[in-house]
Amino acid sequence: MERLLIQNIGLLATPEGNSARRGEAQGKIRFLRDAWVLCEDGSIAAVGVGPAPKADRVLDAQGKLITPGLVDAHTHLIFGGWRQNELGLKLHGVSYLEILARGGGILSTVRATRAATEDELCDKARAALNEMLRFGVTTAEAKSGYGLDRETELRQLRVIRRLNAEQPIELAATFLGAHAVPEEYKGDREGYIRLLCDEIIPEVAEQKLAEFCDVFCETGVFSAEESRRILDSGKKHGLIPKIHADEIDPIGGSQLTEAVGAISAEHLIVCPPEGVAAMARAGTVACCLPATSFYLGSTFAPVRDMIASSVPVALASDFNPGSCPSLNLQFVMNLGCLKYRMTPEEVLTAVTLNAAAAINRADRIGSIEPGKQADLVIWDAPDLDYVCYRLGSNLVSQVVKKGEPVV
Ligand code: NIG
Ligand code: FE
Repeated sequence: MERLLIQNIGLLATPEGNSARRGEAQGKIRFLRDAWVLCEDGSIAAVGVGPAPKADRVLDAQGKLITPGLVDAHTHLIFGGWRQNELGLKLHGVSYLEILARGGGILSTVRATRAATEDELCDKARAALNEMLRFGVTTAEAKSGYGLDRETELRQLRVIRRLNAEQPIELAATFLGAHAVPEEYKGDREGYIRLLCDEIIPEVAEQKLAEFCDVFCETGVFSAEESRRILDSGKKHGLIPKIHADEIDPIGGSQLTEAVGAISAEHLIVCPPEGVAAMARAGTVACCLPATSFYLGSTFAPVRDMIASSVPVALASDFNPGSCPSLNLQFVMNLGCLKYRMTPEEVLTAVTLNAAAAINRADRIGSIEPGKQADLVIWDAPDLDYVCYRLGSNLVSQVVKKGEPVV
């Protein structure tokens, strides 16, 4: 049995529990001064203060802050190319949906992704994962959605499976074939929805390539009714529903969470009160993406209303080549405080335990408690306020994944 002792921890900060924290509980963090954590075979065996137990190896935290490893519950990790050419268009006032309607945006990344081999996609995403790990992310969700055909969607999901096996960050795969209507189905959206529901979803499920099914419920993309059909079809094949809802226009995406039993709803920038109420009733995690609001220059999701209404809130990066080309979850934490007016404690829960709940892993990760996986971040910081207050630096000192120091 391999035992790693992390000692001389100045401050340990963690949410507690095996499920999403909501309402006031979202802001409840356990703080422990002068602590130690004992890891055994990749799991947390004990947490304490005072005299520490013996171990095979010791990691000195040098009086610093330790938290659970960060969980990035929403990324579009696998894609070909970048879209720096859209910056100029944006600066000239061309909107995100206008760029998409002109065949750019998501559709231009689809062209680049279709042209990329599996190895090329792997190499590119691996580089991104290395950067994420250095920012303190130990688990991430990754979506398909830049193939929009059978072959390329499956290729993206195979890349996720490969990367899961060969680098430290655990990946949760989401099928997002309903990310846009591909150009070849422009006059036949019904045909594309049938392709998704009748062919690709069953194959994804059969090959066990994804755990979740997501749709982009948005003006000009998929309506609430179409989204519902696609998510129901995913559910029929064992894929857990997620929804890109209310990012630009509130067309009913957040209200759909209750009808389909979505584990999470994403973006929610313009989420109406009925959407907040539906998520509260359904126990859906609101996965809010403030770096996307920042990047699109839009408003920010009504997170204080969500917390007041007992909706559990997670924060994630939304890393993608269009609306958020950033992997920096620490910046997302800053924005959580500055733009959503969340407390540092609420933010910590949002990027650990609640993010774990958004990808159905709250029983295994997201907190520093005996029995959970030993995924931890040691920060160049004396306390949690400092992490949320400093801007633009990477404050991660060390990262431990399954009891192994990896950064
Ligand atoms: O979450 N909204 C849809 N999908 C991504 C953007 C994808 C892209 O622009 O390439 C998002 O913002
Ligand atoms: Fe997204």
